[in-house]
Amino acid sequence: MEHDTKAILLAGGTGTRLFPLTQVVSKQLQPVYDKPMIYYPITVLIAAGIRDILIISTPQDLPRFRALLQDGSQWGVSFTFREQAEPRGIAEALIIGADFIGSSAVVLMLGDNIFSGGDDFARALSTFECGATIFAYHVKDPSRYGVIEFDQAGNALSIEEKPVRPKSAYAIPGVYIYDNRALEIARAIRPSARGELEITEVNREYMARGQLQVRRLRRGFAWLDAGTSSALHEASVYVENIEKRQGVKIGCPEEAALISGFLSMEGFRALVATMPNCEYREYLTGVAEERSGRFFED
Ligand code: DAU
Repeated sequence: MEHDTKAILLAGGTGTRLFPLTQVVSKQLQPVYDKPMIYYPITVLIAAGIRDILIISTPQDLPRFRALLQDGSQWGVSFTFREQAEPRGIAEALIIGADFIGSSAVVLMLGDNIFSGGDDFARALSTFECGATIFAYHVKDPSRYGVIEFDQAGNALSIEEKPVRPKSAYAIPGVYIYDNRALEIARAIRPSARGELEITEVNREYMARGQLQVRRLRRGFAWLDAGTSSALHEASVYVENIEKRQGVKIGCPEEAALISGFLSMEGFRALVATMPNCEYREYLTGVAEERSGRFFED
């Protein structure tokens, strides 16, 4: 099923919480240690086997995303770009992307969510049939997020957006898997008190229809937020620590494309050859050697 699933990556918004960093560079293009933030969610999508990706951003920022990501063929994927004129809410991405989605299922992902450590999304996608699948992650400060209360079987009991008194410690990360009915649901919801088409309303509607599945992300899985300057800095430190300790990179689309079979070894090597001499190129050269067995022959 994952091969005809399409993904929308939402990378707009005002980024006001990161002012003055975001005056001329959009939030999702800021560095998270050694890569632009958007590389991380893109890598998750590629690792889940998704090739067809719609990037939505503001009219001002979209040209920068196009310049960075090109048409995607360098990674064996296809990027389509679309504007969101005003930040009218996360659920508006489904309306903007309606013709891109066509009649297929869709993964909606937020461009500022960073994940590391597992194939939970790929597994959820491969068993997805219909309705909606969302995820739950135990956090210390749930009131900053969409909060979900669910029973042992993973059935949702309640969902609230940024509740003052959260009913559980489980926040909903910015990855949502929907069947095609999400389009009709998004078109029917009305703006919230803060004037946005809330993704929480879409999830609530699936819950009301008895078609919402919740999967708990395992403890070892990391979900990082990059919404404030401290969170952005902490995400960089986290990525740096893991990369230095393990010698493997998080959020490297080229490597994910090679592993997913989107790039052949030949294509991968040719891509690496176009890069300037830098640590990133050295790393990818090491990946090619390791995967072609040379590392083990030495
Ligand atoms: O990060 C997960 C959380 O994301 C969820 O737990 C919440 O339920 C969900 O509402 C959302 O909460 P946030 O308050 O963090 O959303 P924020 O407004 O910061 O938007 C998330 C990203 O989406 C951000 O990178 C900007 C982008 N965005 C947002 C809106 C509202 C857009 O591109 N367009 C928009 O209209």
